[in-house]
Order: sequence, then C-alpha cells, then structure tokens
Amino acid sequence: DEDPRIDGIKTKIRVVPNFPKPGIMFQDITTLLLDPKAFKDTVDLFVERYKGKNISVVAGIEARGFIFGPPIALAIGAKFVPLRKPKKLPGEVISEEYTLEYGSDRLEMHVGAVNKGERALVVDDLIATGGTLCAAMNLLAERAGAEIVECACLIELPELKGRDRLHGKPLHVLVEYH
Ligand code: PRP
Repeated sequence: DEDPRIDGIKTKIRVVPNFPKPGIMFQDITTLLLDPKAFKDTVDLFVERYKGKNISVVAGIEARGFIFGPPIALAIGAKFVPLRKPKKLPGEVISEEYTLEYGSDRLEMHVGAVNKGERALVVDDLIATGGTLCAAMNLLAERAGAEIVECACLIELPELKGRDRLHGKPLHVLVEYH
C-alpha cells in the first residue's frame, strides 16, 4: 500500500511541456521545494527506509541529487559525497562516461572520498534512461569498491526502462510518471 504522503508529493511536482526541448515533459521539483511539508515528507520517506541500514555514504548526483542527498545523509548519520559534472572537483578524480541522446557526458568523484567496502546509497531526483545512475554506480562500486545498497530517486519514467541498466541493483522511487 502506498504511503499517504506520496499523493501530496506528486501534486507538488510540476510538469512543464516542451522543456528544455520540444517533446520533453520536464519534471520540475522546484515547486516541491517551495512546500516545506512536501519537501520534508520526501526526505522523511527516504530516511525511514534507510536509517539503521548501516549506510556510511550517501552519493548525490549533480545537480538535483545535491538537494535531496544531504538531508538524507545527515538524518541517517552518513557522509555525503557529490558526484559532479566534469572539471568541477579540484582534487584527483575518477571519472565515468555515459551516453546521452546526442553525445556523452561524465560524472566525477574525488579519489579517497569512498573507501572499499563502504555501504553506499545513490540519490538523484529522477531516472530516465538510467545512464547517469549507471555511471554513478560504476564510480562507487567498480572503481571505489563500495557496496551499493540501493539507488533512490523521487521520480521514474518507467517507459524508458532505465531500471534495466542498473546491473540488477535495487532502485527505489516514490513516484512513477507515465
Ligand atoms: C537529469 C536528472 C538525472 C538525469 C537522468 O539531470 O536530474 O540526473 O537527467 O537522466 P538519465 O536517466 O537518462 O541518465 P540532467 O542531465 O538534466 O543534469 P542537471 O541535473 O545537471 O541539470
């Protein structure tokens, strides 16, 4: 059964047609952030799921994983590790490329931010094709040797089958958009 808080969260996500390109229905979470109750409910639902699970790392994906990841990390007593777009991190980095509709992009993580065997949660606002989360998992698991406990997103676009790219790792979402 669905948690009663989910409905309130759904109604606060604004869908903007044809942004940033024609044909894209953009899922805008900034309207959710304007509502303290819906924002708190979102964080609380994840915290309730992950507290006591021995998670030592919450990795957030730039940019909107930086909004939801830190409050979850603080509440469960984990460190927060930003996974950034290229050339933003000043220290030595490891990086993973992923493909976009046109071309490719990269995610980078500081060397030494995550240790072998640490239990990690990956947080982002949305999974579409799954390319971004897949790169994040490669950084954490294959490159840094962490154990991925789960990926957590507010929104999934199930038609794009991004879940199939996560190498069987569990994905937990609050809202599906069809
Ligand atoms: C969006 C979203 C995810 C990613 C999901 O970010 O916040 O990070 O796309 O897409 P995928 O599952 O097809 O990889 P975006 O690339 O727009 O970057 P931004 O958050 O820096 O604007």
